[in-house]
Amino acid sequence: MTLNEVNEETRSRMALALDVDDLVEAGRLGRRLFPWFSVAKVGLELFAASGPEAVGTFIDQGYQVFLDLKLHDIPNTVGKTARVLGSLGVSYVTVHSSGGIDMLKAAVDGLNEGATAAGLTPPMVLGVSVLTSEKSATPEKLQERISNVVAADCGGIVCAASDLLLVREQAPELLSVVPGIRPEGVSNNDQGRPATPSTAIQEGAGLLVIGRAVTASADLEQAANAIALEVSDAL
Ligand code: C5P
Repeated sequence: MTLNEVNEETRSRMALALDVDDLVEAGRLGRRLFPWFSVAKVGLELFAASGPEAVGTFIDQGYQVFLDLKLHDIPNTVGKTARVLGSLGVSYVTVHSSGGIDMLKAAVDGLNEGATAAGLTPPMVLGVSVLTSEKSATPEKLQERISNVVAADCGGIVCAASDLLLVREQAPELLSVVPGIRPEGVSNNDQGRPATPSTAIQEGAGLLVIGRAVTASADLEQAANAIALEVSDAL
């Protein structure tokens, strides 16, 4: 595989984290990196800056949009918010699994309602398992969060690569979405539990979330291509 020749199976496993506060810059990154990534992740920073316009920008570029707002509130508020988000045409929305089954269910129902009313396919809810900043994350806590996600009929879970074994054992049907991806020799930044692209794929990751390993690189295309090569070899 050479530059710009990425197979679809590899591309389908790669989500680009657009953690910037400027939609013009994010849009430029999206256009340049489209050959390697099928999913564009819009997080709190970009959504705070540009809101639904950011979502539309990446849908127009041909991406599936992953809206990473990590919702966590009372079920009524999450449900009503999810109804709005469901009408935007996004493919994935994150919700904190620590919010409990009722809240997760409210998100699933709200997204389904909003999407159906707009004539769209409902987004998949991804339950956030544990944040790396959460100091008291134990295997028991992770198990409880996984069972919340399953009980609420979420389609997927966000977890560290090191948690994939437990997720696979307990809920193999979930799409596992893994941030903290760092090729050998690339700075960990603030990632508490990083993994290389090949390790994450070998451990069973469904979708890799890749941010600064590419976006902070001096050569975006080269960095994306090196990761894609590693993913392709590991598949
Ligand atoms: O570190 P990187 O730039 O690849 O981050 C990509 C995504 O990983 C971020 O958008 C954030 O959602 C997530 N992240 C995380 N834990 C951290 C830092 C970032 O899960 N400690």
